[in-house]
Amino acid sequence: MQKPKHSFLILFFCFLPCLSFSSTTVITHQFKEAPEFYNSPECPSITDASNSKPTVQVAMTLDTTYIRGSMAAILSILQHSSCPQNIFFHFVCSSNASNLNATISTSFPYLKFHLYTFDDTTVSGLISTSIRSALDCPLNYARTYLPNLLPLSVTRVVYLDSDLILVDDIAKLAQTPLGEDSVLAAPEYCNANFTSYFTPSFWSNPSLSLTFANRKPCYFNTGVMVIDLERWREGDYTSKIEDWMELQKRMRIYELGSLPPFLLVFAGSIASVDHRWNQHGLGGDNFRGLCRNLHPGPVSLLHWSGKGKPWVRLDANRPCPLDALWAPYDLLQTPFSLDS
Ligand SMILES: *[C@@H]1O[C@H](CO)[C@@H](O)[C@H](O)[C@H]1NC(C)=O
Ligand SMILES: *[C@@H]1O[C@H](CO)[C@@H](O)[C@H](O)[C@H]1NC(C)=O
Ligand SMILES: *[C@@H]1O[C@H](CO)[C@@H](O)[C@H](O)[C@H]1NC(C)=O
Repeated sequence: MQKPKHSFLILFFCFLPCLSFSSTTVITHQFKEAPEFYNSPECPSITDASNSKPTVQVAMTLDTTYIRGSMAAILSILQHSSCPQNIFFHFVCSSNASNLNATISTSFPYLKFHLYTFDDTTVSGLISTSIRSALDCPLNYARTYLPNLLPLSVTRVVYLDSDLILVDDIAKLAQTPLGEDSVLAAPEYCNANFTSYFTPSFWSNPSLSLTFANRKPCYFNTGVMVIDLERWREGDYTSKIEDWMELQKRMRIYELGSLPPFLLVFAGSIASVDHRWNQHGLGGDNFRGLCRNLHPGPVSLLHWSGKGKPWVRLDANRPCPLDALWAPYDLLQTPFSLDS
């Protein structure tokens, strides 16, 4: 990677609502400037009036806790894309918009993006406590509201979590065929025990378990999804997800956070994506964050889902072997680094 021209000091006043701290913490973050990335000659020009839509539209959430992960994800996307200038980013945050805006534009001065503000109260009344407090963050539910947040002109988006990196061209993922009527595409895991994602009270209630009667549901991870926003808006899937969240408030039908309502609405009717596009679970489980290995097969995207995050483990000098693959995308410049 070429040496960035400048480094900037960004002061962060970080409020960590999802980690159950009660006070406001001040964190000093110094991020390097990423190099500029250029289209290869065969890329369609998006400045033509005839073809003014970006080739790839990406949606991610931004918050002060995960910003370091988001920055690494953005860098990895640009670096492995053949047409990086044709990518448009839609960022969603719930607070500190101007800080996050400044951080992104300072490190990525050439990035095409828009920052949207998600109102936490849209969803806060619908969230039930899950097994891991970080999963109960309102922003974690923002993916359900993308079709409302993003302009109508955006018809397809690749949604990505902040704890992942791509090592392949995102355009390939974005072009996943959605078939006649699928609303979203994601890698499916039909060997996972689907029963375990819902409680016995769910399965023992026929009016609920019938939801899956005419489908062959498989687990999928909601951290990597290709979403047809037009079909989603037409079918008003946001309300369908909210209905399940309302029910969860009244009777416990699942233990995880934002994932199970997606499974309830979409499992068994999504378009499939090759497993290489979500090598998930690298953060270990939801309780301890143990080291995990890659699943067999090729890798286009590495995802540190689970409790352990590579930047936390690297900082603590207790990295897992695969965290070394995340490190080259880290834009944080620590005051102690001997970067000459
Ligand atoms: C960041 O967001 C928190 C929570 O909304 C707020 O208390 C804090 O003042 C914000 N910090 C800045 C610098 O805007
Ligand atoms: C982000 O900054 C740009 C200018 O750098 C400004 O036009 C835009 O309105 C800002 N967005 C937010 C949400 O602060
Ligand atoms: C799947 O999970 C359920 C509930 O957790 C359990 O009762 C069942 O034995 C599991 N099935 C298999 C094949 O492991």
